[in-house]
Amino acid sequence: MISKFSLEHKTAIVTGGAKGLCYSMAEALHEAGAVVVLVDVLDLVEESAARLGACGAPVYAVKADLSDTARLREACGESVALLGGRVDILLNGAGIQYRCPAEDFPEDRWRRILDINLSAVFFMSQEIGKQMLKQGRGKIINVASMTSFMASVMIPAYAASKAGVAQITKALSNEWAGKGICVNAIAPGYMNTELTRDMKLVNPTQYEEISGRIPMGRWGEPEDLKGVVVFLASEASDYISGIVVPVDGGYLGK
Ligand SMILES: NC(=O)c1ccc[n+]([C@@H]2O[C@H](COP(=O)([O-])OP(=O)(O)OC[C@H]3O[C@@H](n4cnc5c(N)ncnc54)[C@H](O)[C@@H]3O)[C@@H](O)[C@H]2O)c1
Repeated sequence: MISKFSLEHKTAIVTGGAKGLCYSMAEALHEAGAVVVLVDVLDLVEESAARLGACGAPVYAVKADLSDTARLREACGESVALLGGRVDILLNGAGIQYRCPAEDFPEDRWRRILDINLSAVFFMSQEIGKQMLKQGRGKIINVASMTSFMASVMIPAYAASKAGVAQITKALSNEWAGKGICVNAIAPGYMNTELTRDMKLVNPTQYEEISGRIPMGRWGEPEDLKGVVVFLASEASDYISGIVVPVDGGYLGK
């Protein structure tokens, strides 16, 4: 049974993989045997790919700003070429956040969050989905959030984008599951990364409320996502599509 979780000879593209949760999930895919391309806007992506690829299967870096759709499509072409023309796994994880009361929320921030967190997920899936449709097989894993289920406060654009990610997951699954592509999402709970570091300062009351509500009594760490991403990327989950899996220390159940 354990061989069904292996990703030996599989290939993966991970957006947002230079750091944080997606670096950790890329590490999990790589540890399970996959060749990986990290796609990220940061120069750091080169260093992250070199670190990850120091042993085991190759890891490549593609630097791209995914809010630029033309560049996104080029980056998909470059990634597919680096992977030798086959993509088994696409992890759509690049994301940004901005906290501000709704009445003052700046238009440029709203548009940028929707471009990166939502539109790039769709266009990456569209581009790589075409390749997977040709292959007759593939796994797309989107990174959703607790705010795919609840909207929270001071993050209206982020909440709208992540609710959209949950819906894109189901919409693409409805069209592609019958053609060999499983489309699922992981919804991390409150995790310790740079993205959430400012919450303690911007909204300390909310930070305390959230911390007190997590039944497991702690915030999540990037490592907490490793098991679920390998499961959703592997044959072990072949009859699962269109779901959003919370990894939240029990938060949603409370
Ligand atoms: N940290 C949490 O608590 C939490 C909870 C739920 C969901 N998430 C989601 O997990 C994902 C990763 O978040 P994280 O916490 O690791 O944050 P992070 O800031 O550490 O990592 C985000 C990555 O996305 C990349 N990125 C941002 N804009 C980009 C662009 N235009 N083009 C290409 N890459 C870009 C960044 O460079 C970075 O490497 C995001 O989608 C986030 O919304 C995080």
